[in-house]
Amino acid sequence: MLYKKSIPQIIEEAKETGEHTLKRTLSATGLVALGVGAIVGAGLFSLTGIAAAENAGPAVLLSFIIAAVACSFAGLCYAEFASMIPVAGSAYTYSYATMGEFIAWIIGWDLVLEYALASATVAVSWSQYFNELLSTFNVSIPEQFLKGPWEGGMVNLPAIVIVCLLSVLLMRGTKESTTVNNLLVILKVTVVLIFIALGWRFIDPANHTPFIPDNPAEEMVKSGELGLWAFLTGQHFGEFGISGILRAAGVLFFAFIGFDAVSTAAQEAKDPKRTMPIGIIGSLIICTILYVLFAYVLTGLEHYTLFKDNAKPVSTAFAKTGYTFLNTALTLTIIAGYTSVILVMLLGQSRVFYSMSKDGLLPKIFSDLSKNRTPWKTNFIFMIFVSLFAGFVPISDLGHMVSIGTLFAFALVCLGILVLRKTSPELERPFKTPFVPLVPILGILVCGILMASLPVESWERLAGWLLLGLVIYFFYGKKHSKLRESEAGKKS
Ligand code: ALA
Repeated sequence: MLYKKSIPQIIEEAKETGEHTLKRTLSATGLVALGVGAIVGAGLFSLTGIAAAENAGPAVLLSFIIAAVACSFAGLCYAEFASMIPVAGSAYTYSYATMGEFIAWIIGWDLVLEYALASATVAVSWSQYFNELLSTFNVSIPEQFLKGPWEGGMVNLPAIVIVCLLSVLLMRGTKESTTVNNLLVILKVTVVLIFIALGWRFIDPANHTPFIPDNPAEEMVKSGELGLWAFLTGQHFGEFGISGILRAAGVLFFAFIGFDAVSTAAQEAKDPKRTMPIGIIGSLIICTILYVLFAYVLTGLEHYTLFKDNAKPVSTAFAKTGYTFLNTALTLTIIAGYTSVILVMLLGQSRVFYSMSKDGLLPKIFSDLSKNRTPWKTNFIFMIFVSLFAGFVPISDLGHMVSIGTLFAFALVCLGILVLRKTSPELERPFKTPFVPLVPILGILVCGILMASLPVESWERLAGWLLLGLVIYFFYGKKHSKLRESEAGKKS
């Protein structure tokens, strides 16, 4: 039998108030800030230059548009669910209501790859910028404390420190955390706007020509000298041209990850039916506009070839404006920006495990609340878990795991919309995904294509992680599931 929660039942559970539940403190603006907080980070500040240099040239702004369209399919599906089922667990809860407990478990477990590992990934980038900031004050951290053992160091200490500090902040309370987050978001959006505004005057049109650099292999396909399959699977796919724009869109998908973190805070939102879609779609739209303008200015200031192997494209491009005295402020704000990504991702992670624990699929420790009504024990456990990854695992391995885990979750959410429209068409939907079934189907297809473009090792790691999850489910979750208990009670 399929153990599935009914939506009215989930909503009823979430209506409980009192000291054992999360507090409703977030407004629509707070939710948009939460989204922007989770989205704008390493993807924009570090990957844009690399994607331009290696794949798309100035057309990297088209890649941003493609990645945004791809994310908006999933974003619209998330918005429908989040307005209909405004509870803390996000994709986990949605699948509990549509595809049953087993799939819900898989997705909840999979979300660890997105939230926990994304915070670890960004913490590693954070540490690089932090070190640069220190160097402007002539302070330096010994090399072995900046890299994990697989990269020739011992441990990435700054990455661990930032994860611990933010976890402690989260333990203190959601309100405190969102106040800090709002400040960080204002700061980082301001820096992006300053970069765009100051940089605009210094754009050299020559840097934007050719807008789409040629890929000679694509020309060979057109003239019939090279077969399409050989090209698609060969090494020249993605080296500029149209295929380069697509490959860059896959890379820059990372820059959009995070809008779904808004939905994990649904139980802390005021009037979630209205504010949830605003939070999700609003943050996606704001970030897309910022990203496209940012990419236009970045590739206009310097020739894209200069961004090769350059982890700090912003500083390189900004030097062109002559406002170099702003460089330290820029680095500082980028650090602030990364901090908010880590903060929101850690918040999202604890809320997913909170929901899973409330359902009995994970031990009660994950839903124990402190007197500030935060799931502080979960925060503590993830502080250790994320610190270990941030301190010891190389960033590229982490990044791919995040992408594959997130894409898998997005595809399942799109599938959930299709299922629910069939099984429960009568439910009230304050926000409706437009053009169903087209939008969810396109969402699944795009996520599938992007997953297929990731290295085989990412697939192996995803399989390994899910396998571990299955073992825990069969030995713990299934036996302690509250839904199963209550169904068994009804039968006897
Ligand atoms: N979107 C987030 C970033 O780019 C994960 O850092």
